[in-house]
Amino acid sequence: MLWWEASLLLVAFALAALVVIYSFRAGISPMPSGLHVKAAILSLLPPETTGTIVDLGSGWGTLVFPIALRCRRAKVLGYEMSPVPWAFSLCRKLVGTHQNLQLKRNDFFDISLHEATTVVCYLYTDAMTRLACKLQEELRPGARVMSHTFAIPGWFPIRVIQLHDLFRTPIYIYEIPLSLPTKDTFEAESPNLNSQLSIVSDPFPTPRRPQ
Ligand SMILES: C[S@@+](CC[C@H](N)C(=O)[O-])C[C@H]1O[C@@H](n2cnc3c(N)ncnc32)[C@H](O)[C@@H]1O
Repeated sequence: MLWWEASLLLVAFALAALVVIYSFRAGISPMPSGLHVKAAILSLLPPETTGTIVDLGSGWGTLVFPIALRCRRAKVLGYEMSPVPWAFSLCRKLVGTHQNLQLKRNDFFDISLHEATTVVCYLYTDAMTRLACKLQEELRPGARVMSHTFAIPGWFPIRVIQLHDLFRTPIYIYEIPLSLPTKDTFEAESPNLNSQLSIVSDPFPTPRRPQ
């Protein structure tokens, strides 16, 4: 084996090890959102969207880059703690034209989310439980949260979209009202929970074969 082949292998091994170490620290790997999910989330963000759109755990940039391109009038912020996917997305930004996109290497639990008008995330149950309090304290009325795959425990979505992809991925959409309903207040106000939950079809359904 040549010296440069050995060096390359060593670098690849070190990068892979860093990804694994940070996956344990973060509680989730930098697994990117799938194509169907990405398309559905983009369709939920009209090009004229303004304000600040934040991706909590932006990974390799799978969501933040297309969002920044689509919503040119919005400021798009991606927070990622894992150095390898963050550095990758930073390099990607250097060769692109995403002036409205900022990629920050932070633990998103350490930063304030008060300026966010839309939050997108693809995380895991424990993070969603911790986030529930943070979002409730820091987001302003009218702000939206779109989380796919994992719901925010104790919150009631204004809409749930079930995709027709392999995993039938749900996208939960929440909006911060003046006072956030909890399960108790919500049930007291509305005995029929299901009537408040609109399950709509995938905006990009997989074409079905004729019978
Ligand atoms: C499943 S990936 C999703 C990546 C991207 N948002 C997407 O949808 O393609 C979740 C990412 O969140 C990051 N993450 C988890 N907890 C974090 C935290 N507290 N602060 C910053 N990043 C975090 C992980 O490192 C991982 O890259």
